[in-house]
Amino acid sequence: MKYLSELFEKNRVWSLSQIKEDPEYFQRLVKLQAPKYLWIGCSDSRVPANQITGLNPGEVFVHRNIANVIVHTDLNCLSVVHYAVEVLRVQHIIVCGHYGCGGVRAALDGQPLGMIDNWLRHIEDVRERHAHLLNGITEYDSKWAKLCELNVIEQVRNLARTTPVSDAWKSGQELMLHGWIYGLQDGRLVDLAMSARCREEVEQGYAKALPGSGD
Ligand code: CO
Repeated sequence: MKYLSELFEKNRVWSLSQIKEDPEYFQRLVKLQAPKYLWIGCSDSRVPANQITGLNPGEVFVHRNIANVIVHTDLNCLSVVHYAVEVLRVQHIIVCGHYGCGGVRAALDGQPLGMIDNWLRHIEDVRERHAHLLNGITEYDSKWAKLCELNVIEQVRNLARTTPVSDAWKSGQELMLHGWIYGLQDGRLVDLAMSARCREEVEQGYAKALPGSGD
């Protein structure tokens, strides 16, 4: 192998160790993909969905983008949600942000970076919506952490409004949404109490997390 041979070597070692541990492993995965969870997280290389949840290949369907944003015109994300809900029939969708998110920081600072500014504008919208709350925090890192949390809360709300999720709920399909945040410093997940089985529960969670912020 001419390029990146170290990765092919790591792959070879991994594949052999999986087979050694469980000879049927790959055959089983070939036959069936039946994950219970869809993970929507940040592209950040330090937040790998499978590793931090201890889930194996086949157990979690994953979509990642910069700063785990759910935008109603993003066909990529919407298609993932649609497929996960309609075809794979996942039972849970987890929107997972993380503290120390560079995308969130860029939106907080409002510093122009180029093309990505258009994507980060969605987080700036979150920042503007909750300016009263953020302006009350003087320490920069705390403000940054708060915007990371607010972003997850708003994205869960966006997710609840997507057509695949609202169609699933209308048809009586069991589907629960969750908003989590991950700590880079300790590797721990925190539940932001946005879990919901219907639109009303999303609004209740939102009102509880952010009193007086509904629109
Ligand atoms: Co991030």
